[in-house]
Amino acid sequence: MDLAREFAKWMSKFIDDSQNEVNIALSGGSTPKLIFEELASEYKDKIDWSRVHFYWGDERCVPPTDMDSNFGMTAELLLSKISIPSENVHRIKGENTPGEEAVNYSKLLQHRLTVKDNIPCFDLVILGMGDDGHTASIFPHQIELWDADNNCEVATHPETGQNRITLTGKLINNAKMVTFLVTGANKADKVREIIKREGHFEDYPASLVAPISGDLNWFLDSEAAAEL
Ligand code: 6PG
Repeated sequence: MDLAREFAKWMSKFIDDSQNEVNIALSGGSTPKLIFEELASEYKDKIDWSRVHFYWGDERCVPPTDMDSNFGMTAELLLSKISIPSENVHRIKGENTPGEEAVNYSKLLQHRLTVKDNIPCFDLVILGMGDDGHTASIFPHQIELWDADNNCEVATHPETGQNRITLTGKLINNAKMVTFLVTGANKADKVREIIKREGHFEDYPASLVAPISGDLNWFLDSEAAAEL
């Protein structure tokens, strides 16, 4: 998929252009898999991974070995293939009690990241979008979590009831750069509604992504962009 090549190239330049430590929040689900495979195969020796710190925008409340784990997927496809120091990988511990881990991760972010207006500031937040317009693990039925005061909250998947830990809107919109990575025809209508501010866009958490920096990029394949 040329989207994977494009995004990996863009991310490599973003890291190169950044000075010192680069703090990046990764998305989960299936879309990033192609990016991780591209980074592992083509950028293994082209990126100074010692300067990169990975975090997650959300995580399923399962052990890292579970097939649902966003960390587990990233470890398999990318982390195990590049020379990134283990201390640079800051996973959400899905095996912990959800409420406790939301507090733990909130504290970790507050401590590790530089803060702007006392809110942790990522260099880059990579987001996916569900075909219901959710992003990270903030779903339409819990859209109020977007405005939570905490850095992280416990969310639940609307169909499966699975607990998730998610970043909240204040962190996502405090990032220097936010990129959406969205593929597939099943998302084309939500992409159009959100980008063109049409239809029921206010009902979709993804429509609330508006970084204060103004730096928001959409990386779309032709199917997801078909209605633009
Ligand atoms: C997750 C993600 C979530 C994902 C969307 C899209 O943990 O599932 O972080 O926000 O990005 O659900 O998922 P797909 O890439 O699988 O379509």
